[in-house]
Amino acid sequence: MAVPLDPRDRLIVALDVPSVSDAEAMVARIDSAATFYKIGYQLGLAGGLPFAAGLIAAGKQVFLDFKLHDIGNTIKHGVASVANMGATFLTVHAYPQTMKAAVEGARGSNLRILAVTVLTSYDDNDLAEAGYGLTVGPLVARRAAQARDIGIDGLVCSPEEAANLRGVVGREMALVTPGIRPAGSAAGDQKRIMTPARAIAAGADYLVVGRPIVEAADPRGAAQAIVDEIAQVTAQQQQQQQ
Ligand code: C5P
Repeated sequence: MAVPLDPRDRLIVALDVPSVSDAEAMVARIDSAATFYKIGYQLGLAGGLPFAAGLIAAGKQVFLDFKLHDIGNTIKHGVASVANMGATFLTVHAYPQTMKAAVEGARGSNLRILAVTVLTSYDDNDLAEAGYGLTVGPLVARRAAQARDIGIDGLVCSPEEAANLRGVVGREMALVTPGIRPAGSAAGDQKRIMTPARAIAAGADYLVVGRPIVEAADPRGAAQAIVDEIAQVTAQQQQQQQ
């Protein structure tokens, strides 16, 4: 998957707000500083799907972060419905059956499937408690390789994992990283954070940013500052390649 040329298209704003009216107000405030929005359970299950369709009709891109996991037939048809609404990204859990069915459901559309390898709230003890024989690192690597072999379009990962995962999945798959904090902003509950510039330098293709934008006094300015940081690093990378 080719990385977008415009740095603005590499910022995904997480619309983690409680209602459609809050989301509408936030999108209006951010205005042209962002082109790509992520909608999760909170907004999606509170009327956010018609709102998402409206964003797409208005020319924005939408990432539905629903982390789907079910039997193959259900996944395939659910994913096809998301493809029909015109979303750009959709997350599924990185189980082989689920990933294969999602790829089938998205076939022929512009929808790109992202796999979540291991939730970042899980540590080795949580995996053992859930019955897994692998620790986090090996399980992430195994699932990333499976996602690549199945034809998944990208992975959601922490910026710290990006450089390693690039080695597993190659250039074709998109690495989408939350846990982004501009210098000086509050970490909140994120434990492993990087600045936008460092995450792009580490190999992230897309940055997912929520609170540093939606809780800022000036959301548009906060989004624009991140886009500027992405632009600076990508310009440096292009110079180094020449
Ligand atoms: O507010 P903040 O920038 O921390 O928001 C990050 C977004 O990325 C949230 O919507 C969160 O659910 C999502 N996310 C994450 N870590 C993951 C997967 C998704 O923070 N491993």
